[in-house]
Amino acid sequence: MQNFDYQTPTRLIFGEGVIEQLPAVMGALGRKVLLAYGGGSIKKIGLYDKVRTLLRDFELLELSGIQPNPKYDPSVLEGVRLCKDNGVEVILAVGGGSVLDCAKAIAAGARYDGDPWDLITYRAKAGDALPIVDILTLAATGSEYDCGCVISRTETNDKVGYMDERLFPVCSFLDPTYTFTVSKKQTAAGCADAMNHIMEQYFAEDTTLLNDGFCEAGLKSLMANTRACLADPQDYRARAEMMFACTLGCNGIYALGNSQTGWPLHAIEHALSAYYDITHGEGLAIITPRWMRYILSERTVDRFVRYGVNVFGIDPTLARLEIAQRAIDATYAFFEEIGIPMHLRDVGIGEERIGEMAHHIAVNEGLEQAYVPLNEQDIAAIITASL
Ligand code: NZQ
Ligand code: ZN
Repeated sequence: MQNFDYQTPTRLIFGEGVIEQLPAVMGALGRKVLLAYGGGSIKKIGLYDKVRTLLRDFELLELSGIQPNPKYDPSVLEGVRLCKDNGVEVILAVGGGSVLDCAKAIAAGARYDGDPWDLITYRAKAGDALPIVDILTLAATGSEYDCGCVISRTETNDKVGYMDERLFPVCSFLDPTYTFTVSKKQTAAGCADAMNHIMEQYFAEDTTLLNDGFCEAGLKSLMANTRACLADPQDYRARAEMMFACTLGCNGIYALGNSQTGWPLHAIEHALSAYYDITHGEGLAIITPRWMRYILSERTVDRFVRYGVNVFGIDPTLARLEIAQRAIDATYAFFEEIGIPMHLRDVGIGEERIGEMAHHIAVNEGLEQAYVPLNEQDIAAIITASL
């Protein structure tokens, strides 16, 4: 078992109606608030009006229009400017992972004198950051319980993951009823994203029985509850369990004590969405079974056997390789069943830029250190197999 150093300062307030506690939580952090949100879904579900009513005694500035795969320019830069010009004391992010991520980058940039891109690319270290509170409306990324954000810069085809312990939200409000309106496409993509967060930690050289069981339960919970959410989008129990399973995804807690894996699926997907602006969870789902086939070997087969038997209930008396291949087929079949387009061509990606993307990933992501090391040729082969 590997050493670890773990601390999550984020307070989770979970359940229907918990938003009533928003003024008390915000009041302890400041009166000048930057309210950050996306393209309007929070207005459709009445959440925008509710927040404005609850915070009527606060001074609210707004940053709207944050897009999926949140953009450095204009969203992060505009948010930093609003905070600096108006002396904002706390950021309230209301939306999915993209809004939360954008809020985190703004929180760091608002307390930094130079170009915020320096922070995102680790050329400078944040000395301070504004506090963040969020109200989550989409179960997927786990941004509500981690200190990371992923920011895109379209002009350079960069989609960069930035982590800093100052960026943990102070408090995340998790009301599953806000996710009732999430589309089938985004529900499925969120499930695929959260499953991938677990797989990135499960496919490791050194794991514990405790973590393996935790990860396997997480995967089964996500699959069962996603099926239920798709059948009935207002199934509270299913939306609730899915939300919580997603919340744990990127926080590290699924794999404390496991060896590092390099998170290869995310490294590859982030380049796909940087170049083509695709939905993160869909990109992951497409790549996953191809990556699995690519890394299946005598060295890795027992991991796949465990995964196949414990997650998909495959007959443990079959030959090891047979179990592993069935497990990969079952992974593909599940993503297909929940409606994810399973070829890169289906989401607008052709072969034209594979070499360029593979080079970008190999240079920037360090996948030579991954669970199964991947060089530029390996990465190109996995993307090509995903077409
Ligand atoms: O913009 P609005 O109108 O709000 O609509 C959004 C958006 O179009 C919509 N939506 C959100 N809540 C809704 C809703 N529609 C109806 N009802 C609701 N209640 O859903 C669409 C997608 O939203 P987005 O926030 O982009 O989705 P998600 O939460 O999947 O976030 C994806 C982003 O997070 C990054 C991804 O790379 C991507 O940029 N990630 C962040 C991570 C982190 N911070 O830890 C880890 C992840 O691996 C991931 O990389
Ligand atoms: Zn992800």
